[in-house]
Amino acid sequence: MDKFLIKGGTPLAGTIQVSGAKNSALPCMAAAILTEDEVILENIPQVRDIDTERKLLASMGADVELLDGSDHCTRIRCATLSDPVAKYEIVKTMRASSLVLGPLIARTGMARVAMPGGCAIGGRPIDLHIKGLEEMGATIVQEHGYLEARVDRLRGAHLVFDKITVTGTEDLLMAAVLADGETLMENCAREPEVTDLAALLTAMGARIEGAGTTTIRVKGVGRLHGARYRINPDRIEAGTFLIAGAITGGDLTVAGCNPAHLGALIGKLEEAGVRVDLIGPGALRVRPGGQLRGADISTEEYPGFPTDMQAQYMALATQAEGVSLVTENIFENRFMHVQELVRMGANIKVDGRTATVHGPTRLSAASVMCSDLRASASLVLAALVADGQSVLDRVYHMDRGYERIEEKLRGVGAQIERVSKLPAPEAQPAVAD
Ligand code: EPZ
Repeated sequence: MDKFLIKGGTPLAGTIQVSGAKNSALPCMAAAILTEDEVILENIPQVRDIDTERKLLASMGADVELLDGSDHCTRIRCATLSDPVAKYEIVKTMRASSLVLGPLIARTGMARVAMPGGCAIGGRPIDLHIKGLEEMGATIVQEHGYLEARVDRLRGAHLVFDKITVTGTEDLLMAAVLADGETLMENCAREPEVTDLAALLTAMGARIEGAGTTTIRVKGVGRLHGARYRINPDRIEAGTFLIAGAITGGDLTVAGCNPAHLGALIGKLEEAGVRVDLIGPGALRVRPGGQLRGADISTEEYPGFPTDMQAQYMALATQAEGVSLVTENIFENRFMHVQELVRMGANIKVDGRTATVHGPTRLSAASVMCSDLRASASLVLAALVADGQSVLDRVYHMDRGYERIEEKLRGVGAQIERVSKLPAPEAQPAVAD
């Protein structure tokens, strides 16, 4: 199992490049199921979850290949789907596999999808995906850990989400585009990843209005055709890099991002005393603005402060003067990074959904354990400012959603390297007894 060795204390400087958004690429790849034609997606991030999705599509009979010799461009062709089953062996490694449920039913009238288990950050049910598909006429039964779905043809419906769900909105949007008649979806997620998916579906011939708002209207069509589409930049990777620049007191330019998707984070960083400037199209420059000040965050659906940035912000809050209250409203167990930060010297107390961070505290290097994707990012950020060399174990969590992060960070001065096992301890000189 790979580890990161990170020596803290170096202010990051220079320009770091953002990759395509994992959470856009996953639904967009699933959307290829909706047509027999080829779909070409550009700016796909080279991360483990994308490899998992490629395997999943191929296991169902899709032709999936990298184009232009680059991992960043994928061609998918679902001319036939010989085995429309999302097997548990794959689904258990990536919950977002449930995104094939809607497109499979819409395209073939049937689907057999393993129920995704929970994950480190919470139960992560998909009851709202199922409820919406049943309201569109699908019969869905659950047995032996699988969802078996059948329908002759989905029919348009009036769907109102009980809770705002990102992949629930995406799954049902993909179901609606081939349904018979019109679908009105209310209380939808407004995340940029939903808008990205809607843009691809529209390029494929779908008729969608309102993506990016809470109300989406879809007029079903008989078939969709292929398209070539470029995935948007990853706003969470960009936000992680902004905090890397801030926590190390560096002067860092984050390039290839979409600042319009980062409003809540940028506002909070400025409140905490960080200077963030737009210095060109898609380029943000982060610089010190004096002593960091405590500032509270409360995670909300987009455009509120993103839950996927909560752990990273908490690392920064350990370096801020005063108290920062960090409230996690979206997931029930997204404080796995707290104990590891405390082991590095942070002063954090958790009470229910709120963590109280007192700062600034000097962090000292430690051996720490990554537990989930964003908690891992939080530990990398803390290690970049801690005294000494930290060892981060189980960095495979990081590889799910960050492309070559150690190379990117090294490129702007971080002392970070990936090792598969720890170097043998220096031979200790014999001690004269
Ligand atoms: C998406 O997960 C993202 N993943 C997550 O990013 C992100 O944290 C999350 O949205 C919230 O922004 C992808 O897009 C692949 P939800 P998703 O459905 O869609 C409850 C990362 O780090 N809910 O919006 O699974 C659910 O339990 C990952 O990149 C139901 O109750 O999240 C949660 O409390 C982590 N029933 C809340 O809604 C349902 O049927 C929001 O979940 C669906 C969701």
